[in-house]
Amino acid sequence: MKIKFRIKRCDPMSRETCEPFVQGYDVEVTEGMTILDALLKIADEQDPSLSFRKSCRSAICGSCAMTINGFSRLACATQVMPEVKKFGEMEIEPLPNHTVLKDLVVDMNPFWEKLEKITPYLTPKEGAEKVCVLPEDLEAIGKSQQCIMCGCCNGECNALEIDKRYIAPAALAKAWRFVGDVREGNARRRLDKLSDEHGMWDCVRCVHCTQYCPKGVAPLKAIELLRSAAMKEGITDNHGAKHAVAMAESVKRVGRLDEAAMTFKTLGFLKSLGMIPFGLKMELHGKMPLPLVFAQINDIAEVRAIYEACERKKGKG
Ligand code: SF4
Ligand code: SF4
Ligand code: FES
Repeated sequence: MKIKFRIKRCDPMSRETCEPFVQGYDVEVTEGMTILDALLKIADEQDPSLSFRKSCRSAICGSCAMTINGFSRLACATQVMPEVKKFGEMEIEPLPNHTVLKDLVVDMNPFWEKLEKITPYLTPKEGAEKVCVLPEDLEAIGKSQQCIMCGCCNGECNALEIDKRYIAPAALAKAWRFVGDVREGNARRRLDKLSDEHGMWDCVRCVHCTQYCPKGVAPLKAIELLRSAAMKEGITDNHGAKHAVAMAESVKRVGRLDEAAMTFKTLGFLKSLGMIPFGLKMELHGKMPLPLVFAQINDIAEVRAIYEACERKKGKG
């Protein structure tokens, strides 16, 4: 069976092909063939100039991440036939949120620089000769150890798309691997740094990183654990932590989000004044009730009972 592969290509170094263009290749495919097998076949039989990365061919090295029919995935772990059944054709593009070097090869330097920022190795507790690591301790960081550095999560990250300075999910998942390790001696310092601008609080919780990670690392869960650990350490003098506190207070007080009050509590009085034009726009579009007539929901007692139960549980824990 012949399938059309439409591959987005460009070579910024070449005068002829520096603008992205789509090239079609007809490929004879068989059951069980992966996208990487098909790309290798194209390179062998039709066009040796087609560039892409690969190494292990077994979803281990993380080299072959690319966009396959609109989603960031590993070419060696994605079979052609199920894709064809779903989409009819094959559209292959480079990984999003990364600069293209040539065809499907992207610049991974920003990815490694972000990783470098989180100090990607254990810095043990001083003076502690031996620390006993129990199975449950390993479980707490287990998934974050499965990362193969493929970059699919960063490719799909909405926060990274709008701000390239954001530390992004792959580095945050790795950060939890060390913060959550019972042998780590600098967890507090790490959390302080991650709470800075462009750090963990920039995540907008779109869940894409968890959805598209091919190894089940669940970076968003790691981000939640990091945030929670920072708040337990009392690292709350930043917009993200203040926003989380304001949100919890708002739901407890009125049963829903009081956007105006939350803005004041998050940004402080002076910075909130700059948000007034935005607030008025929301008001005009019916997105925000007037702050002064913000009524609590009817069943507020039930909401508060949930809070009290959580506080009781926290007290026992
Ligand atoms: S959940 Fe957060 S870190 Fe993950 S992709 Fe969305 S914005 Fe990025
Ligand atoms: S967390 Fe998952 S998607 Fe992100 S780099 Fe690691 S393995 Fe790839
Ligand atoms: S070639 Fe190694 S993960 Fe695909």
